[in-house]
Amino acid sequence: MGPIGVFDSGYGGLTILAELRERLPQYDYLYLGDNARAPYGTRSFDVVYEFTLQAVQELFDRGCHLVILACNTASAKALRTIQQKDLLTLAPNKRVLGVIRPSTEIIGSISQSNHIGVLATQGTVISNSYLIEIGKFSPEAKVVQHACPMWVPLIENNEHETDAGREFIRKDIEALLEKDAKIDTLVLACTHYPVLKSFIESIVPPHIRVVAQGKIVAESLADYLNRHPEIESNCLKNGTVSYLTSENTEEFDRNASVFAKDEVKSRHVSLH
Ligand code: DGL
Repeated sequence: MGPIGVFDSGYGGLTILAELRERLPQYDYLYLGDNARAPYGTRSFDVVYEFTLQAVQELFDRGCHLVILACNTASAKALRTIQQKDLLTLAPNKRVLGVIRPSTEIIGSISQSNHIGVLATQGTVISNSYLIEIGKFSPEAKVVQHACPMWVPLIENNEHETDAGREFIRKDIEALLEKDAKIDTLVLACTHYPVLKSFIESIVPPHIRVVAQGKIVAESLADYLNRHPEIESNCLKNGTVSYLTSENTEEFDRNASVFAKDEVKSRHVSLH
């Protein structure tokens, strides 16, 4: 048995972890942030795939039977290949899940106007994963995407609340809303972005719903574990959480407090 692995390029996956722990507090979690190589959003398909596979392997080596890619960029660029190719040879009885599918399944039911805006990293936008997946579940929806390449570096460096940081965010929101005035639902399709949610809500018109993925992913995982007792029975249930970072642990612990509720004490991991 082992903990549930939660992976992100850096701090963003902590927003998902917080909701997993809220919804499913009984499980043990092992978080891995590849902070040394973040951000992933502007990296190529091949590089994101390679880094993500290394992280998944590391979490498997540390006993995880189930790994959540709590990163849209990794889910968009690496998940399918890992699920369809690598797992077969690496660990046929283990599972890797992403965050895009659960979000795209229900987003159409949240919008009244059927005009949905997606804010994401460049990598996620270029992959068109949200366009394709929302199209499957809500073919009538009109989806407009906008890449925000500055947001992850701003958040990773804790500069998103400075005047300059807020100006970048405001400009990106305006650029998206200019593309389609009928948007009534904005998806924060990057796990870093929920820390900006209240600021974004304060600058968009009040009829626009800003949707973070954490609760959606947590509900979807609860459902998955119910349907897959063979995986669920391999998940430790002591309610613990531990953290790994590929960067400096003290810095990780300090910055992680922006995202996590409790005090964080991480250990270092080298990914290769
Ligand atoms: N949290 C990742 C995501 O959801 C961030 C990506 C990055 O490192 O650029 O896409």
